[in-house]
Amino acid sequence: MSAFIVLGAQWGDEGKGKMTDYLAEEADVVVRYQGGNNAGHTVVVGDKEYKLHLIPSGILYDDKLNVIGNGVVVDPVALFTEIEYLEGLGVKVTPEKLVISDRAQLIMPYHKTLDKLKEIARGKNDIGTTGKGIGPCYTDKVERCGIRVCDLMHQSVFEEKLKENIEMKNQYITKVLGGEALNYDEIKEEYLKYAEKMRPFVQDTSVRVYDEIKADKNVLFEGAQGMLLDIDFGTYPYVTSSNTTAGGVSNGVGVGPTMITNVVGIAKAYTTRVGKGPFPTELNDSMGDWIREKGFEFGVTTGRARRCGWLDLVILKTTARVSGLTSLAVTKIDTLAGLDKVKVCVGYKFNDKVIDYFPASLEDLAKCEPIYEEFDGWDESVANARSYEELPENAKKYLKRIEEFTGTRISIVSVGPKRDQTMRVDEI
Ligand code: GDP
Ligand code: IMO
Ligand code: MG
Repeated sequence: MSAFIVLGAQWGDEGKGKMTDYLAEEADVVVRYQGGNNAGHTVVVGDKEYKLHLIPSGILYDDKLNVIGNGVVVDPVALFTEIEYLEGLGVKVTPEKLVISDRAQLIMPYHKTLDKLKEIARGKNDIGTTGKGIGPCYTDKVERCGIRVCDLMHQSVFEEKLKENIEMKNQYITKVLGGEALNYDEIKEEYLKYAEKMRPFVQDTSVRVYDEIKADKNVLFEGAQGMLLDIDFGTYPYVTSSNTTAGGVSNGVGVGPTMITNVVGIAKAYTTRVGKGPFPTELNDSMGDWIREKGFEFGVTTGRARRCGWLDLVILKTTARVSGLTSLAVTKIDTLAGLDKVKVCVGYKFNDKVIDYFPASLEDLAKCEPIYEEFDGWDESVANARSYEELPENAKKYLKRIEEFTGTRISIVSVGPKRDQTMRVDEI
């Protein structure tokens, strides 16, 4: 039995979709445990590119079970749009291949309205959310007025909860945020149709995943977003509303932490971020533009240009600690190919001291000055390497420094978006 977590070690978009797909070959079950369709995971199979948001990346295989756990927020509209998209590309999505937790919270139309109106109300302090209703949905979960998938399965319970919510939300939307009221009957009709479409997929996924692990199956937990978007350990309030770190798996699936055997942190060879918030190694210059163009750094979910900067090892060290990484997978070293020199941040100068952890206060973080080490670059041949030995010497030195600074082994190196542009350099 093995139970692996694959999670983002930076601000998301590290290549989790690609790595999940790569590792899923050896897995029986792929599980999403947090986030929702704010995620955008790209998987390239042959010459086809798939963009997944809510459905686990294992869906592209015919023989894997995919699970949407209780910690995920599920937008039924997005779910069935994605199922249609996949079926259009010849990927079957059946209840044998996909199961959805009866405890997962539903994203309702008012969550999307609130997400957008609150961002407008925040003005220059907006977070830059994806507008998918993620924050307001998790808010309702904690407020204890959320509507769960199991509620949708019981018409009278759903109608009552929807009525209460619509009354409260419409007050807030119209009187505080200046928006337009939503219509109870329209939402009820729409969601009751989704109830019937969803019913065959719904089950107690905590029991299901536990049983799969006990039956010696290999289970892979696919993280969404990344370490610094974590609600507790990220650059709060410029974060998402869930625990993206390894701890999120136990609560988001309902399996005990002792069942997890490996935690693989996915790290891009440089750093990117979408949306607002601090970013110490950001390059607001032609170098940043160069990385964005070469790495095609544009959001999968919103199409926004990603902010780009040098690799920040302080961030990776923090992820290694908080998520207890057993190894790292480094992606996109091919993007940096062709540069004369590349830099990595190995600490921050903060009030005349040098620190190697990520401070909680954004005011303190603003005072942090990155300390860089410079490395000689490598050439484009890196994309053709299929084993560690074939990597250019300078790329190896770069990878060695990552291992040394973070105290974490690198198990996988990715040199392109395709499945075969991936090398296993150590045990997972
Ligand atoms: P995710 O959200 O972590 O799954 O990552 P995204 O899919 O949002 O963004 C990663 C992008 O990089 C996608 O377009 C991938 O196809 C691509 N990608 C993944 N690994 C590599 C790699 O090693 N090299 C290159 N050039 N592209 C990669
Ligand atoms: P994947 O899984 C990168 C960012 C948004 C915004 C903040 C809050 O593809 O790595 P939200 O809509 O979640 O309330 O937005 O989080 N964000 C992501 N950034 N990759 C993601 O997912 C993200 N999901 C959310 O841009 O800054
Ligand atoms: Mg992404």
